[in-house]
Amino acid sequence: MEIWQGKLQPPARALREGLESAEGLLCLLTDRIDRELIDGAPQLRAISTYAVGYDNIDLEAAAAREIPVGHTPDVLTDATADFTFALLLAAARRLVEGVDLVRGGEWLTWEPDLLLGADLQGATLGIVGLGRIGKAVARRAEGFGMKLLHTSRSSGAPLDELLAESDFVSLHCPLTEATRHLIDAEALERMKDSAILINSARGELVDVQALERALRKGVIRAAALDVTEPEPLAADHPLYGAPNLIVAPHIASASRRAREQMAELAVDNLLAGLAGEPLPNQVPAGT
Ligand code: DGY
Repeated sequence: MEIWQGKLQPPARALREGLESAEGLLCLLTDRIDRELIDGAPQLRAISTYAVGYDNIDLEAAAAREIPVGHTPDVLTDATADFTFALLLAAARRLVEGVDLVRGGEWLTWEPDLLLGADLQGATLGIVGLGRIGKAVARRAEGFGMKLLHTSRSSGAPLDELLAESDFVSLHCPLTEATRHLIDAEALERMKDSAILINSARGELVDVQALERALRKGVIRAAALDVTEPEPLAADHPLYGAPNLIVAPHIASASRRAREQMAELAVDNLLAGLAGEPLPNQVPAGT
């Protein structure tokens, strides 16, 4: 067994060399498992990713070699939905601005209109992608008295309508060719100027240049992101200069329990694949 010990993901070359004789691969979402890599791994019999999302893996190339791909659904649903709400609340109630004010020694006294934020009660939350995590976010939103709209592959409102009517828009769809830059300049223009965008899914769903311009011009009120394209953004990326923005380091699933259970599932998937058995959580064919 070979374990990559580096803090950063293995460079493509190291991954290629490691896979020349490997029978199984347990990877992270930061590893790009493309056709070239799969084709250069003649012994490979199982791929297991320590994530629910698998957009980093060429599923067609794996299927062509009959290599099953496993992922870690369910166990991170609640943790991710909780963190989505942490982002939503932090943006709505301007938590980071408030903390910065206090830490900067600039808070002088209680004021009736200090850092006024958005109300959740009665506000409309538009959920883009009503899978496991989208539904868990919807359940939380109901507890806050929010109205719900959703759009998904098989049900709900058209995206344009959801964007126009929502006070908060939260992204929970997978990254595919169809959803890359789903939130571009045009989509942002459709949103209310008081709207708040939350993304805890994949960075590539949002065009960061368009978002930066939209925040600067007040096209939308605020954005709270757990994910960006790329990850991380360069420290001097212009997005960081935009107002009303929160960026977290892709930690929505990072509760102790979720991460432990993800590790267990990822190992179970790998071992099953190596034993020639069905993976407990195999990525369905054709997704
Ligand atoms: C996943 O599992 O896909 C998440 O992005 C990890 O936080």
